[in-house]
Amino acid sequence: MPTHADLLVLNASELVTCADGPEGPLRGDDLRAPGMLENAGVAITDGRIAAVGTTEDITTRYTAPRTIDAQGCAVLPGFVDPHTHLVFGRTREDEFELRCLGKTYEEIAAAGGGIRASSRRFRATSRAEILAQARATRRRALLHGTTTIEIKSGYGLDLASELLALEIAGELDDNGDIVRTFLGAHEVPDAYRDDRDAYIRLVCDEMIPTVAARGLARYCDVFCEEHVFTQAETRTICRAARENGLEIKLHVDELAGTGGAELAVELRATSADHLMQISAAGIAAMATCDTIAVLLPGTSFFLGMQTFAPARRMIEAGCAIALATDCNPGSSMSENPQTLLTIACIGLGLRPIEAIAALTRNAAYAVDLGTEVGRIAPGYRADLVVTDVANHRLLPYHHGVNHAATVVHHGRIVA
Ligand code: NIG
Ligand code: FE
Repeated sequence: MPTHADLLVLNASELVTCADGPEGPLRGDDLRAPGMLENAGVAITDGRIAAVGTTEDITTRYTAPRTIDAQGCAVLPGFVDPHTHLVFGRTREDEFELRCLGKTYEEIAAAGGGIRASSRRFRATSRAEILAQARATRRRALLHGTTTIEIKSGYGLDLASELLALEIAGELDDNGDIVRTFLGAHEVPDAYRDDRDAYIRLVCDEMIPTVAARGLARYCDVFCEEHVFTQAETRTICRAARENGLEIKLHVDELAGTGGAELAVELRATSADHLMQISAAGIAAMATCDTIAVLLPGTSFFLGMQTFAPARRMIEAGCAIALATDCNPGSSMSENPQTLLTIACIGLGLRPIEAIAALTRNAAYAVDLGTEVGRIAPGYRADLVVTDVANHRLLPYHHGVNHAATVVHHGRIVA
């Protein structure tokens, strides 16, 4: 007698499971062999994956009231986007136009724009409006296949506004699919330009303890960069975060190489993100530790940079790389994971299958959810993307259109 399931996905021409290889995130050559079945099926029960196998195997063992016929379709794990700033309220297309005409991101920031401009706009926007923006952005990400997403604060830059951003991010959560990060140290706000130490004290002595006490975030992040927060300041903030039970993520080595990857490893950060300018010593340090290297090639692209993170050297060295959109109104205005795959292939030199593994299984480890999401395997959350293309290579190759025909989230068909 076949077992009852809630939903079956059958006849997938390719089922990218991301379930093969050794424990943990995939490194080196394993990244290009994450696991793939042909003419495959999945049985889903109670929001979880019950079984994975050939279509014949699944149809003999399971019956279900609903079936998705994935004939001619590649099926992938739901995407995990482990680095976004998607609660921002208002956009910055004015700065985009200036950049089109040749101004750089740094010049705009130095003149008072950039993150500080977003912060002014954020504080001038109502809660309802910010919530509507964040919901719409998260919904679009889901419709493009992103089932799990990390969201940072960082446009409030005062206690009440930072708490508001994290509360709004929490309201988007549909059962553990939003991971929150406190990024009060995103920039020194206008009121503290002449006394940055006072702002750092505010972050350490008031913001971090309140965020932690209210359970509003799992991680604390710092934008460690020339002209933003120094290594010494980053250490101070991370010490306060740890004392309050928060884990660490860091924006490092984005615009100038400042030994940020080495610092992230020393601080036992869960992830070190950006890494366009990572040093040889940074690569060596990251190759032998659990810190995930989250690469954000959409940002290099959107800032018109010639420099992308040295992904091939990092993979060869044994670093665990993941991908993220960095969705934010300044340096990467896109929540689309499929565009990111294309940019990762072209800009970082990843094979399509490597990019997919980096945006699913490995990305899950960047938010400590590697045993929960990012794979199509028994026991994992039933998050998957049924594409309208017959093989996974077509996904980054045919770019600029949405290939997510059906998105399954917690076992429910959402799109
Ligand atoms: O990841 N690097 C710092 N933060 C964002 C940019 C934020 C903004 O410009 O609004 C980033 O690139
Ligand atoms: Fe970022």
